[in-house]
Amino acid sequence: MDASPARGSRSSASRSLEPACRAPAMKVSYLRVFAGGLLAILLVLVLCFRQLPTSPAEPNARAGGDPGEAAGARGVTVLLWYHPFGARRAMPDCAALYAIPGCIVTANRSAYPRADAVLVHHRDIRGNVSRLPQSARRGAQKWIWMNFESPTHTKHLERLEGLFNMTMSYKLGSDIFVPYGYLERARAPPRRVPLPTKRRLVAWVVSNWNEAHARVVFYWNLRRYVPIDVYGRAGAELVGDSVVRTVSAYKFYLAWENSQHTDYITEKLWHNALQSSAVPVVLGPPRSNYEKFLPADAFIHVDDFSGPAQLAAYLRFLARNPRSYLRYFAWKRRYTVHVASFWHEHYCAACAAVRASARHAKVVSDLALWFHA
Ligand SMILES: *[C@@H]1O[C@H](CO)[C@@H](O)[C@H](O)[C@H]1NC(C)=O
Ligand SMILES: *[C@@H]1O[C@H](CO)[C@@H](O)[C@H](O)[C@H]1NC(C)=O
Ligand SMILES: *[C@@H]1O[C@H](CO)[C@@H](O)[C@H](O)[C@H]1NC(C)=O
Repeated sequence: MDASPARGSRSSASRSLEPACRAPAMKVSYLRVFAGGLLAILLVLVLCFRQLPTSPAEPNARAGGDPGEAAGARGVTVLLWYHPFGARRAMPDCAALYAIPGCIVTANRSAYPRADAVLVHHRDIRGNVSRLPQSARRGAQKWIWMNFESPTHTKHLERLEGLFNMTMSYKLGSDIFVPYGYLERARAPPRRVPLPTKRRLVAWVVSNWNEAHARVVFYWNLRRYVPIDVYGRAGAELVGDSVVRTVSAYKFYLAWENSQHTDYITEKLWHNALQSSAVPVVLGPPRSNYEKFLPADAFIHVDDFSGPAQLAAYLRFLARNPRSYLRYFAWKRRYTVHVASFWHEHYCAACAAVRASARHAKVVSDLALWFHA
């Protein structure tokens, strides 16, 4: 989950607005001289207030009562019960961001009695049902179970059976399916797909170093045969604090998941590897599962080889044979990469799904069985 680019652009936008907003104060002395000055200053003030971005420190600034009224009878209110991982964030304007109109996403619990849906992030309740709403739920209100961790890191599901009405996760078959990323058809397919200059071989960015993880075991084996540059909390500093800038200089990226589960394919593939134009070497669910989400020739799977020595030999072969190497980028002529934006995209997807299923009742009673399958 890498939300930093969005945050960066927001703060630079507010910085560039500052001079315009200070202008009225500097012009105050002219007021006495020029009658028309007053009008100009009012205009600048109005423009400044219209353009100031919502401060991330005021999570409910956009979701206050008014848009609810404006949304009218078809408006949908989604109540976020806890900010994921306790990190307060501004609520999204789904119409502006995703062209999903009539949504009110709020974290203000006084909206509970009238909310169409309550969005519950699994990690923030941890199977403790007294952290769920305690007062009676309105008949049509839907509780949504939201989780983006793998089953290995998702505990106590058995305590939540029969409480929720919808599921939202990266797993296919979720009522609200929000993968970490996906390929979307390019609107204007490019004729050529230039790649960044690649002088280096294999990169890996890892923050959670755990000797018990399959990926760390595989790393120790693979690095006996091929050099691997490790970045992140467990390695070197990223170039310019950017995964894409760092990894773009490499031919291959180790998109290795912290645990291996069906459909659990994270930003390590979509953002770290594909958006950096590095060929992903994946370790996660089986190849057949990856092929549900991207073309078979867009990645290398560790299971394609009898062992690390064979994989290393293949990487070296590709590095010496540009024609074979470039075949891994055939997808670029048809697709672009979309990386899910935590959490605005998720909240707005929830709103759209709640509206679409307004007349559909359901109780999730096989959460543990389904999610761990
Ligand atoms: C929550 O909503 C109530 C009722 O609309 C309002 O009085 C209150 O100020 C809101 N709280 C916050 C923190 O925005
Ligand atoms: C469960 O959540 C409630 C309400 O937040 C809290 O008071 C209680 O200590 C929690 N129980 C456990 C076992 O964490
Ligand atoms: C949601 O789940 C609850 C708890 O099982 C159930 O009582 C309620 O009828 C369900 N509501 C809808 C709209 O599906």
